[in-house]
Amino acid sequence: MLYPKDDNIKLISNKAMRLPRNRRTIIIGGLVFFTLLMLLFKTNVLRPACLFREDPGAMIREEKFVTGSDNKRYVYNREMPLIFIGGVPRSGTTLMRAMLDAHPEVRCGQETRVIPRILQLRSHWMKSEKESMRLEEAGINKEVLNSAIAQFCLEIIAKHGDPAPRLCNKDPLTLKMGTYVIELFPKAKFIFMVRDGRGTVHSIISRKVTITGFDLTNYRQCMQKWNQAITTMHDQCKEIGKDSCLMVHYEKLVLQPKKSMEEILNFLGIPWNESVLHHEDFINKENGVALSKVERSSDQVIKPINLEALTKWVGHIPEDVVQDMANLAPMLSTLGYDPYANPPNYGSADEIVKENTNKVKNNQKLWDHKVQQLLKRDEENADENDDNNQDDNANDVNDKT
Ligand SMILES: *[C@@H]1O[C@H](CO)[C@@H](O)[C@H](O)[C@H]1NC(C)=O
Repeated sequence: MLYPKDDNIKLISNKAMRLPRNRRTIIIGGLVFFTLLMLLFKTNVLRPACLFREDPGAMIREEKFVTGSDNKRYVYNREMPLIFIGGVPRSGTTLMRAMLDAHPEVRCGQETRVIPRILQLRSHWMKSEKESMRLEEAGINKEVLNSAIAQFCLEIIAKHGDPAPRLCNKDPLTLKMGTYVIELFPKAKFIFMVRDGRGTVHSIISRKVTITGFDLTNYRQCMQKWNQAITTMHDQCKEIGKDSCLMVHYEKLVLQPKKSMEEILNFLGIPWNESVLHHEDFINKENGVALSKVERSSDQVIKPINLEALTKWVGHIPEDVVQDMANLAPMLSTLGYDPYANPPNYGSADEIVKENTNKVKNNQKLWDHKVQQLLKRDEENADENDDNNQDDNANDVNDKT
């Protein structure tokens, strides 16, 4: 009685009863609309991901994708069949990736430099017993770490170039950690570029390509370092297995490109396309072969596939090193290169390659001009000693405390 509650209610209900007809219609209409909306949410048609999660406790993994110029979505994830090109630097890895880049379905792009480095960083952590124990104790177990590193690699690979149905990465030294890469990406495939170590070392030294551990003033030491690096990669490739790692001899790729590329595309499960034999026509074109102004091999892949580089090393290696070759680099024999032949017989060349070689030889000025046009170097980027400097030494873990 003290509180005129009833009166109030009555008043309100009276008011409600007295709502004009059109307002009632609005309210009922609104209710019907809201119900419909809820139904649509329930059936996923309009569900905003942030509001209606199946399991609010789980971390929802959104599908990652990049959008191509064709407006198509290119999804990327750890289950995709990525292509990795590896090998000792100066073994034809750039030529390999340029030829694949010319294929309409593949994009490799320039060296990322950061991918081998993050893999190596992780390998340092794992090599230190103390550090790996600390990580484990902190909840950063193998799965957490693998997932994070895989995402880092994927973001770099997917976003540093045009989208494509098949993505590819060429950072030569990644193969040193090849088995781990396959752990991250179980469907990935490796192309292992192998070249006569004498050619590789001559190229490293004459082009001043700094690689950690290689003494550019010492052929003998470089041959030993080559032998060491190629041993690691050869072991990794064997462990990965035939289905996921294909060894490709640079000399054969250059001499018989058609046969080699047929084998390679077949291994990758990619349909044949003639454009892989004419990568020079696709330099810096859309969906073609993007070249870096500062990568050491760019000036060479501008040219069509030719025989210029094959035996350049002959006559440049000190006599005492030549005499000692079989001992310095036993991997030469393992890989089928006669250590006593200078040069060995690498095989016969396809007609198209002979023609290309003549074209390049007879028009040296034209090619020099093309190189200058395409690679217009900025003065500050032309520092000879700063290129291609990859810290590839896996033995320099420096764990303090
Ligand atoms: C090869 O690729 C080109 C584009 O680079 C395309 O126009 C052509 O249809 C392809 N050929 C085959 C046989 O797939």
